[in-house]
Parts: sequence; C-alpha cells; structure tokens
Amino acid sequence: MVMNRRDFVRSLPVLPTGLLLGASALSVSACAGTPYLSPRGSGNQLVVSAANVPEAGVLLQRPGMEHPVFVRATEEGAYTALLVRCTHQGCQPDPVGDRFVCPCHGSEFDMEGAVLRGPAERPLPRYGVARAGEDLVVTLQEMNDE
Ligand code: FES
Repeated sequence: MVMNRRDFVRSLPVLPTGLLLGASALSVSACAGTPYLSPRGSGNQLVVSAANVPEAGVLLQRPGMEHPVFVRATEEGAYTALLVRCTHQGCQPDPVGDRFVCPCHGSEFDMEGAVLRGPAERPLPRYGVARAGEDLVVTLQEMNDE
C-alpha cells in the first residue's frame, strides 16, 4: 500500500496496538521512495530491527512525533540518525538522492545532516544509535553539540 507522509501519520492512531508494537515490518512508501517504519520502544528510544535499515535509509515515526527520524547504515557499518526537521523554520525536508531538500525555502542538507545550502545555518539534529543484538536503538537526545 502506498501512502504519502500525511496519510501515514494520520493512519497511525487507528492501527491495532499489536501492529504498532511489533511493527518493524510495517512499511509504506513516501518521500521519493524512502520507506516509513513504525518503531518499537518507548520514551526517548526508538527501536527497529537492523535488518530493516538499508544503506539508503528509513524514516522512523510513531504517534506523537511531529517529524520522523531518518536512520541509515553507513559504508563503515555504523548507523546515523537525524531528526528530519529543518533548522531554519521547522519544515520537514525530503530525502532526495544523496541529500535532504526543504520544501519551504530550499535549504539542503547532506546525509550526515550538514548544511549544503541555506537559508538554514545549523545542521539537522543528530541522535545516537546503538546496536542491541539484532536491533538498533535510537536515543532521542541531540548529539550535535557534543
Ligand atoms: S524551513 Fe527549511 S528552508 Fe526554511
């Protein structure tokens, strides 16, 4: 089933709870083909099976999250996680090829979140990703200033 970003977010509260809790496999297309996954976990942690995170990346979003978190595997076998919220005025940039492009005023960011083109001046917020067995755990605590 193909849904756009708005339809996906609207659909989350009506999904059966069991589906949301075990939803690593839940996937729909949006944003130039980047799939959305509904992560497990609670509080400030998002948990997803590492097998479901390709190099091209996925967008993690659950009810209550205004913007998704983009997670991808790097060539070195590590993972990165970025909050997909433009640091200019808060719009949601779209993954397009090897960058994020903000639809509001044209800012562009690379896949590490660095600004390629303004008016945004700060990088996308970056979160830590830890491996826990077969899972990845994203901790929603900004790392950019560390
Ligand atoms: S909100 Fe993204 S460029 Fe203005």
